Amino acid sequence: MKIATTIPEVRAQVAAWKKEGLTVGLVPTMGYLHEGHASLVDKAVSLCDRVVASDFVNPTQFGPGEDLEAYPRDFDRDCALLEEHGCDLVFHPAVEEMYVPNAATFVEIQSDMPKQLCGQTRPTHFKGVCTVVSKLFNIVTPDKAFFGQKDAQQLAIIRRMVRELSYGIEIVGCPIVREADGLAKSSRNTYLDPAQRKAALVLSQAVFLGQRLVQEGERDARKLVSAMEAHIKGEPLARIDYVSAVDGVTMEPVERIEGDVLVAMAVYIGKTRLIDNFVVEESAL
Ligand code: PAJ
Repeated sequence: MKIATTIPEVRAQVAAWKKEGLTVGLVPTMGYLHEGHASLVDKAVSLCDRVVASDFVNPTQFGPGEDLEAYPRDFDRDCALLEEHGCDLVFHPAVEEMYVPNAATFVEIQSDMPKQLCGQTRPTHFKGVCTVVSKLFNIVTPDKAFFGQKDAQQLAIIRRMVRELSYGIEIVGCPIVREADGLAKSSRNTYLDPAQRKAALVLSQAVFLGQRLVQEGERDARKLVSAMEAHIKGEPLARIDYVSAVDGVTMEPVERIEGDVLVAMAVYIGKTRLIDNFVVEESAL
């Protein structure tokens, strides 16, 4: 596996692959990789001739007072995992390589979409995500790019950005990978002490409860969300940021569980903000 820290190195490698007629997949990450990220690399390896992973803690998607400095980093371990899963090139730029000084060009969806769900507490987050992902698309020019359903709003926003900015890139969504006890894998799980780790199970338990209620016929979004909230409120270490049922494409709140619906939540366990979700597909109703 090759390691590139500069944009020209990536461009040269991708150009050489394209000259050979090979297809290229991109897996954007912020590092501190786990099996969730690995599942994206596996999917990319299965669908593309060559796979590039980016490993970059993107400052523009963190708000003031968020965990940019504390965000966990272990590049050597990341490289071992990426190599083991068949990644061909890891792009690990410094902040100065990705952002020219005083950069003032951003990519932003100017609708309510990035203001819903996580956008309520992280108003500038998706502007930073769209900007860095656009840059990665321009640098790597992949045929396909792989994103996790774990960050469902991010996935929906990237799909919209790609459509509206005419990126000729296929976006492949990949299912949530969980720990054996249900907790969705996340780089931020490392912040949890043992008591918090146990308390964090309320998120996946609320997801499973919600899925069961929908399966049993619940179609009233308010009742569904209330039942999930009640479960989370039973855990003293948990504080709800939001639990919401929204349209799976637009992220607008829905009243009824019909069509493709995303049921998503963000919950603080101590100072750590965790997210989880499930999708109800029209075909399953
Ligand atoms: P990061 O949080 O490192 O996640 C990178 C990718 O891994 C995302 O597409 C995310 O949805 C996916 N992922 C994380 N945990 C997962 C899990 N448990 N199961 C399946 N997929 C999982 O998301 C970002 O980084 C950044 O916002 C980024 C897109 C890289 C832009 O900076």
